[in-house]
Amino acid sequence: MAGNKVVGQPCGSSRRDKPPEARAAVFIAPWFGLILATAAFAQDAGRLRDGEAAWDKAGCLQCHGSTGEGGAGGEFPAGPSLRKTRLDRAALTEAISCGLPGTQMPGWLDGAYTQRACYGFPTGPAPDETVLTPVLSADEVEALVDYLLAKIVER
Ligand code: HEC
Repeated sequence: MAGNKVVGQPCGSSRRDKPPEARAAVFIAPWFGLILATAAFAQDAGRLRDGEAAWDKAGCLQCHGSTGEGGAGGEFPAGPSLRKTRLDRAALTEAISCGLPGTQMPGWLDGAYTQRACYGFPTGPAPDETVLTPVLSADEVEALVDYLLAKIVER
């Protein structure tokens, strides 16, 4: 460590009421908070983008309408309005991951039923009459649920 030099501050500051570190902390604290808030916001925005990408990738809009308002039917089965759903985060995650057996709502999670237990049953083959379109990862499903809760449910 030959090149290390301690660079000292010249003494003689006229303000002796608080040590300089304390004044620096008072100055820095609000900025630090702002930086944290900005980072959290950027993270949220990225998360919602991932969720919207999953929404587009799975084609939820084909049955539920482009803004989740409910599908009109016709070429695709009519899905109900997701804006008016009463399902909470856990139930949304389950419905999207595992689908709704006996209806035309597919399960989207890769490995649903066989690798990841659904509706409390042991892992195994999906029940008859379950439509599976396993194109989403667990992370994509989670981001999608974040997106629904932020932008669609009750909006
Ligand atoms: C092929 C058409 C179709 C597609 C594509 C589809 N759904 Fe559905 N979805 C349905 C139908 C039909 C129902 C209603 C099932 C029933 O209860 O009869 C439903 C129900 C749901 C429900 C339950 C709503 C409630 O309040 O009970 C949720 C949540 C949901 N879908 C989310 C999604 C999401 C998110 C996607 C995209 C990953 C998606 N769906 C893609 C047809 C579809």
